[in-house]
Amino acid sequence: MASRPWTRYTQALEPRSCRHHHDRHGSIPSAVDAMKRGAFDYITKPFDNDELQLVIRTRAADVRPAAARTSLESQLEEQFRPENMIGHSAAMAAVFRMIDRVGPLDTAVLILGESGTGKELVARAIHRGRGATAAPFVAVNCGAIPLTLIESTFFGHEKGAFTDARIMRRGAFEQADGGTLFLDEVGELSPAAQAGLLRALQEGEIRRIGSEQPLHVDVRVIAATNRDLHQEVEAGRFRKDLYWRLNVVGIHLPPLRERPEDIPLLIDHLLARHARRMGVQPPALSPGALSLMIGYSWPGNVRELDNALEHALAMTAGTTIGSAELPARVGTPAGRLAGGRDGPPAADSPATTLPEAVARAQIAVEARLIRQALNDTGGNRTLAAELLGVSRKTLFNKMVQLRIDDAPG
Ligand SMILES: Nc1ncnc2c1ncn2[C@@H]1O[C@H](COP(=O)(O)OP(=O)(O)OP(=O)(O)O)[C@@H](O)[C@H]1O
Ligand SMILES: [Mg+2]
Repeated sequence: MASRPWTRYTQALEPRSCRHHHDRHGSIPSAVDAMKRGAFDYITKPFDNDELQLVIRTRAADVRPAAARTSLESQLEEQFRPENMIGHSAAMAAVFRMIDRVGPLDTAVLILGESGTGKELVARAIHRGRGATAAPFVAVNCGAIPLTLIESTFFGHEKGAFTDARIMRRGAFEQADGGTLFLDEVGELSPAAQAGLLRALQEGEIRRIGSEQPLHVDVRVIAATNRDLHQEVEAGRFRKDLYWRLNVVGIHLPPLRERPEDIPLLIDHLLARHARRMGVQPPALSPGALSLMIGYSWPGNVRELDNALEHALAMTAGTTIGSAELPARVGTPAGRLAGGRDGPPAADSPATTLPEAVARAQIAVEARLIRQALNDTGGNRTLAAELLGVSRKTLFNKMVQLRIDDAPG
């Protein structure tokens, strides 16, 4: 802990309220108050030095210095990530395997997932998997193009093809020739646009508007949507033939609430990214704030998590993000799926399914027991693993997963 000023922990351990209530020797209400004000822990007076050291060591593990986190993060990134994608839940491991598998092929891929789950990131990773680094990646947001411009956006037009066509324009298919065409929000396409797209995919040829000249294009198509495209097909809003052409391989990105074990890692990654951009050291996260974030349902998924961290970073003056710095919605009972350390389980909330509640409870219990075991053994991982009845390797993996680090030394 040499890199951190000792005073930081002493300050944390001597909350204002304790000073106010000096004569009460650390009553329970003052301890609760102290924790609320951001103290990491408290000890009651009189205390001995061993006790003080123990508290400091355990708590120091919760607020690991940025340097330690960064090296931990980089280890993890080497181990798990295709480029800049983070996650080690079983669900994300399956996604990464799919990316590896389909990357080098020219198969069409359909990526499904709620808003903010990383669909575009996956599309780019698949594109890179083909190896041709100079090959174009052309993204078209199908939901954002005015109906009248759809055809010209896809296929381009000749000069003078229509009133506004003052210059020739190459369409997305042509621009993506030899590379990837990413059809984002593909579920939003009108029936006419779906028909045009299908024709181009079937024929491997396009025509610019106003031209009779067919152009051969070699394009790998990756499509994404946050709609249930199968249901759109059933409802007659999306062409079945186009669906099957796009969906040669389907990749489903699970919502963040179904993989809470990825949250601590994502936090490290995204915080470091924001901090780098802002030219500051990434702050630590208080255990309370982390617990709130793990317990939140994240309807906007990773994008919302990213936004919340940017918010927190802007709100934080010190070196630690506390619960108070998080956006208010993260701490409200309505947004919570199951009990964190400071709320009853929202088991009756309609947003909670049994597997979600169980996953969260498991994380909370595992983290608590591991911290306890490390605490009881003075940070000795071999002994702690023995206490917990798991191998040292399992313990280490869990610690990495749950972002638990024992204090060095
Ligand atoms: N597994 C991940 N690791 C790291 N960053 C991620 C991951 N998943 C998503 N992100 C980040 O979250 C944000 C949203 O990702 P992306 O734009 O790919 O989502 P999306 O599914 O396309 O969302 P939308 O449906 O809203 O367009 C981006 O900033 C992205 O970098
Ligand atoms: Mg997107």
